[in-house]
Amino acid sequence: MSNRVTITDHATGKSIDLETIEPTLGARLIDIQPLFRELGLLTYDPGFTATASCSSTITYLDGAKGELLYRGYPIEQLVEQSSFIETCFLLLCGHLPSKAELDQFSSEVLQESLLQEEMKRFFEGFRPNAHPMAIMVGVVGALSAFYHDFQDIHDPQNRKHSAKLLVAKMATIAAWSYRYANGLPFTYPRGDYNYVENFLHMMFSLPTNDYTPNPLAVRALEVIMISHADHEQNASTSTVRLAGSSEANPFASIAAGIGSLWGPAHGGANEAVIRMLEEIRASDQPLEHYIERAKDRKDRFRLMGFGHRIYKNYDPRAKILRKLCHEVVEGCKTTKETQELLELALRLEQVALEDEYFKQRKLYPNVDFYSGIIMLSIGIPLNMFTVIFAMARTVGWVSQWNEMFGDGHSKIGRPRQCYTGVEERDYLPMKQRKK
Ligand code: SDX
Repeated sequence: MSNRVTITDHATGKSIDLETIEPTLGARLIDIQPLFRELGLLTYDPGFTATASCSSTITYLDGAKGELLYRGYPIEQLVEQSSFIETCFLLLCGHLPSKAELDQFSSEVLQESLLQEEMKRFFEGFRPNAHPMAIMVGVVGALSAFYHDFQDIHDPQNRKHSAKLLVAKMATIAAWSYRYANGLPFTYPRGDYNYVENFLHMMFSLPTNDYTPNPLAVRALEVIMISHADHEQNASTSTVRLAGSSEANPFASIAAGIGSLWGPAHGGANEAVIRMLEEIRASDQPLEHYIERAKDRKDRFRLMGFGHRIYKNYDPRAKILRKLCHEVVEGCKTTKETQELLELALRLEQVALEDEYFKQRKLYPNVDFYSGIIMLSIGIPLNMFTVIFAMARTVGWVSQWNEMFGDGHSKIGRPRQCYTGVEERDYLPMKQRKK
């Protein structure tokens, strides 16, 4: 197969042969770097719908087939056979760990999971009813004020240390964001709990009673965290890469990613799905009314948890979480309201998938459509859903950030634009301006 494409600018009659790049998996790519130099032409692709910003060895999605691989391993096998901490090692290091490697990594992450005590005052600076995502963005950014003795991002050991520190401390920051917002005393990780057990312990244990994490809740959260760990160059990961490309410190770059994830078009969709289902359940309108609103371009209403930039088939994570949803709703003492939300979600999915508008646009449930119902069932409150997503995605962000520097020739990200403003004009003194 030829490894070149030819671009001809008919305005000038000039042509250029551009090299194509053969990926391990996925669509072939055109290296357009010579385009501006040789033909003076820029490419235009708002939202990067057909533009690769980097090469990566970490995660691969097949949007047509609905497949997701972490370092080559299918997500379905990882949720069945791996753990979140093992998946963190896999994403960060590129291979499944030996027993000794996993034990050492788990121990290092546990040791790093404590926060400096002065950071408690940082939480206390927020209003008690602050959204936990607002607290998380602020506290993660503040880590750069507390942990700054290995900030040389060009040192691979420093980068690995920062990555482990962030993965470890995110669980404590997430749990403490919840504790502070609910007026509860801060809790500490335990040496005899794994990553997910410790998070649930820090979220829900009270000094006044013994708390043992429910094994079904631990299993459910492991699956949710593995499913959310990484996902190629999504908006928040691209934000982390772009922020990090200026050689900003890792904590500031991750804080930027948290901010991007918070949006309802991205990681904030899990919270938006529940709010949508609750609105539909409280309304006296039939489901079809909301399906019609979702199809109406003049109406801002969207079917939250539906559609995806890459998946034009069922999101494999949605399939996993849909199955888990049934297990958790049956296995936990889920409230009648949450059971009704699941029934409503299943009906909504069925109506949408039979509708021409959704079929034509290949709009399927994505990772956010069922995750919220699972989290409600294991006692996670609505405003903590995106915090959990950020906690899980931190390992993806730091793995991609680390990879960006790893190949030795990272460049600062600086996209071009199509300028459509006014042409040059002279300054107008006030007295000459229109009244
Ligand atoms: C995540 O990128 C990632 O990998 C993200 C993520 C990750 O793990 O990092 O997978 C996590 O963010 C999942 C997505 C969560 N967001 C939502 O569930 C919000 C609802 N979904 C939509 O906002 C939308 O589907 C997006 C943002 C997810 C994708 O938007 P695109 O790719 O820009 O698609 P588009 O807006 O161009 O839509 C194409 C058509 C349009 O209709 P037409 O102009 O052709 O008439 O599909 C329609 C859209 O109006 N459409 C929807 C819809 N999503 C797309 N119509 C109704 N409801 C929807 N949800």
